[in-house]
Amino acid sequence: MKKWIVILFAMLPSLAMAAGANVPLDKANNDLSDQASLQNGAKLFMNYCFGCHSAQYQRYERVARDIGIPTELMKENLIFDPEAKVGDLMENAIPENSAAKWFGAPPPDLTLVARVRGADWLYTYLRSFYEDPSRPFGVNNIVFPSVGMPHVLEELQGIPKPVYETKMVNGEEHRVVVGVKSDGTGELNGEEYDDAVRDLVNFLEYSGDPVKLERHALGWWVMGFLVIFTIVVVLLKKEYWRDVH
Ligand code: HEC
Repeated sequence: MKKWIVILFAMLPSLAMAAGANVPLDKANNDLSDQASLQNGAKLFMNYCFGCHSAQYQRYERVARDIGIPTELMKENLIFDPEAKVGDLMENAIPENSAAKWFGAPPPDLTLVARVRGADWLYTYLRSFYEDPSRPFGVNNIVFPSVGMPHVLEELQGIPKPVYETKMVNGEEHRVVVGVKSDGTGELNGEEYDDAVRDLVNFLEYSGDPVKLERHALGWWVMGFLVIFTIVVVLLKKEYWRDVH
C-alpha cells in the first residue's frame, strides 16, 4: 500500500507535465451530437491541418457518413488529393523525415490526439499561440512551450500578442505569459474564433472515438426501453396480485 502511494506521488509531476507546464485549461464544452459543429470541424481540419497532419485511422467515407456529409460533397469539397478515393484512409503525402527537419519534430497523426491530450487541452492549445520573435516561426505556445508547429490559424485569429503577469516562481519574480490578445487583424472576432476552435476540437474528439456517437444515440434507446419495460412490469405485477389479495 505504502509503496503504491510513493509511486503515485512520484508520478504526480509527470502528470502535471503531460498537461503542459501547469497551465490551467479552458473547458472546450464541445457537443458530439451537434452535426453542424462536427461538419465545420471537418472542414477546418481538412483546410488548415491536413496539409501536415494525417488522420490515417479514419476513412473519408466513414467520416462523411458519421457526421452527415453527403459523399459527393465530401469528394468535391474536402478531399484535396486528386489521387485519393472516398474509401481511402485519410493519409497525407508529407514525408516524415523532411517534416521533422522543417519543424524540428514530425507533425503527429491526429486521429487519436483527443484521447491522448483531452478536448480541453486541445481547445486551450489552439487558442494559446502567441507572438515570440525568438522562435523559428515567430510564435510560441503557452501549453506547449517551444512548440515546433506554426500558428496555422493566424488568418482566422489575427496575430496573438502575449499578455504578461509577474508571478513568484521558487521565490523569484518572473514575467510569465498568462494569456493572449489578438491584434484584431483576423477574419474572426474572439468569440467566433473560440467557436471555430470548439468545432475543430469536436471533430478531433469524434475522430478519436467514432463509435461514441453511436453509443450516445444507443444510450437513449436503451434508457427509453428500460422506462417502458419498467411500466409494463409494474402493470403486470398489479394484474397478478389483484386476485391474491
Ligand atoms: C505547417 C505544418 C502544420 C500544420 C498545418 C498543422 N500542424 Fe499541428 N503540428 C505540427 C508540428 C511540426 C507539430 C509537432 C510540434 C512539436 O512536437 O514541437 C504539431 C503538433 C500538433 C499537436 C500536438 C500533438 C501532440 O500531442 O504532441 C496538435 C494537437 C496539433 N499539432 C494540432 C494541429 C491542428 C488542429 C492543426 C490545424 C488547425 C494543425 N496542427 C496544423 C505542424 C503542423
